[in-house]
Amino acid sequence: MRCLCSCLILYLQRPVALASGDTYPTVDQPKFWDEVYERQTDRDIYEWYGLGYEQLQSYFLDALLQPTFSSPPPVTRRLLVVGSGDSALSAQLASEKALKPEWEVISIDFSSEVTDRMKIRFPELAFLTMDARALSFEDASFGAIVDKGLSDCIGSVTERRKYFQELRRVAVDGGRLLVLSQRHLQTEQDILDQTDEDGSDLGPSWLCKREEVYGALFVENDPTRPPFPQPGTDNTIPYFLLVCTTNEDTAEQSMT
Ligand SMILES: C[S@@+](CC[C@H](N)C(=O)[O-])C[C@H]1O[C@@H](n2cnc3c(N)ncnc32)[C@H](O)[C@@H]1O
Repeated sequence: MRCLCSCLILYLQRPVALASGDTYPTVDQPKFWDEVYERQTDRDIYEWYGLGYEQLQSYFLDALLQPTFSSPPPVTRRLLVVGSGDSALSAQLASEKALKPEWEVISIDFSSEVTDRMKIRFPELAFLTMDARALSFEDASFGAIVDKGLSDCIGSVTERRKYFQELRRVAVDGGRLLVLSQRHLQTEQDILDQTDEDGSDLGPSWLCKREEVYGALFVENDPTRPPFPQPGTDNTIPYFLLVCTTNEDTAEQSMT
């Protein structure tokens, strides 16, 4: 199995039926990820896209501490990290001096294989096994949500829109959403600009601005190891960071 930097998106497009009638699990199913984490036994901390807290810190602090689109930082200081995998992001957010002690970090992933590992690795943090498309949290329970890599696992615009609506359900009014993806997700603002009738990936719930963050070209050529950066490709591949706020109170405000 060999793929270039858009591994996840290619996984989604591969045939899923075997001659035996069995099917391969796809990247939007927990079984796929359980198998990845079971097979890649020697991973400890791994950052998808090679982008970790160091590269993203300023965006987090801006979104969580500063006014975004003229709306003040949310009052509810609970931060949900979805599809947390075995990234160090949750632990680094939880130990960020500028966010302590107010912000509480809660992480979820639908692979129990990885959440079990992360509970052992970071016993002081909350790692729950849960599908981000059907969260078991109450409405309006988080001030901010972080998705790094999860949306790239969801294969259709319709499914992504449902997923981002579910995130909106658990976010407070004025809540923040940060999404890092390989895919150039369409926001409602993009659709308004282009009069595209297919609808946006995020749906009408979020008002966003987009940043590009440059990383390395990642290649996978060994199923027992996660993709690794190609030498000499640092800072050459664009990844997309959407910094969003719920749109109810902000729809009339201009994006800056
Ligand atoms: C590309 S990895 C990113 C992991 C980590 N956030 C990082 O940046 O290194 C995607 C992760 O999202 C998880 N995931 C995918 N779809 C999910 C869903 N619907 N609900 C919860 N977790 C999901 C996978 O199990 C996997 O750990």
